[in-house]
Amino acid sequence: MAKIALALDVEDLDLAKNILREIKDYKIIVKIGYLLFIKGGVPLIDFVKNLGFEIFLDLKLHDIPNTVYNGVRSASELGIDYLTIHALGGREMLIRAVEGKKNNLKLLAVSILTSHSDDYLDYIGTKYSLDDLVLKLAKTSLECGVDGLVSSALEVKKLKSSINKDFLAVVPGIRLDKTAKDDQNRVATPEEAVKNGADILVIGRPILKSEDKKKTIEFILKEIDKVK
Ligand code: C5P
Repeated sequence: MAKIALALDVEDLDLAKNILREIKDYKIIVKIGYLLFIKGGVPLIDFVKNLGFEIFLDLKLHDIPNTVYNGVRSASELGIDYLTIHALGGREMLIRAVEGKKNNLKLLAVSILTSHSDDYLDYIGTKYSLDDLVLKLAKTSLECGVDGLVSSALEVKKLKSSINKDFLAVVPGIRLDKTAKDDQNRVATPEEAVKNGADILVIGRPILKSEDKKKTIEFILKEIDKVK
C-alpha cells in the first residue's frame, strides 16, 4: 500500500514537534527539508525517530561525486530512511551516491524540478524535450542503482510504463480538493496519484493547514486504501 510522507514545512521547531506528537500514532514518513534540518539538525532527527516515524531527508544533494558520497554516507549514519539527490549531478555522482548508502537508506533521484519549464532547456543547452530529459535522467538514475524517483502525479504513469524496472515513485503536488492548489500547478488527488502508480505521496499543506490533522490523515489513508 502507498505511504504518506508528511512534508513538515514549518519554520518553528517547537511547532514541528507539537505536530509530530499530535500525529504520532500514524505510520507515516516525515519529510524534513533544509529549513527545519538546518535549524533542528541531528537532535530533530532523533526526536522524529524516537516517535517511531520513518524519516525522509530532502536535501537534494548535487556536488562532485566524492562530496556526495560523503554526504550520503553521513546521512546513512543518522539512521534516516530516504534521501534525495539530483540526477543532473551526472552518472559518476549517482554511482558514488549509491556506494555511500548504508543501513537500508533509500536514495530518491530528482530529475528536473517541476518549477522549470522549457526556458530551462535553453539555459542548460540540451537537445532533449523536457519529457525526454526527465525519462533519460530517470532511466540513468535507476541504472546507477537509486531506489526511487521523485516525479509529478502526471509523469509517474509514463515513467512506470516506460521503465522496465521496479522503483519507488515519490509524488508531490497532492491535493484533497483540486481547487485548492496553493502554488502547485499540476495537482492530483491521493486516489489519482496511487492509480497512476505512486508509492509515496508527499503531502504538506493539505495536512498542515487542516483543522484536524488526524482526521485528514485518516481520510487520505482511506483514499489510498480504495485503490487495490
Ligand atoms: O504543501 P505541499 O503539499 O504542496 O508540499 C509539497 C512538498 O513537496 C514540499 O515540501 C515541496 O518542496 C515538495 N516538492 C514539490 N514539488 C516537487 C518536488 C518537491 O512540491 N517537484
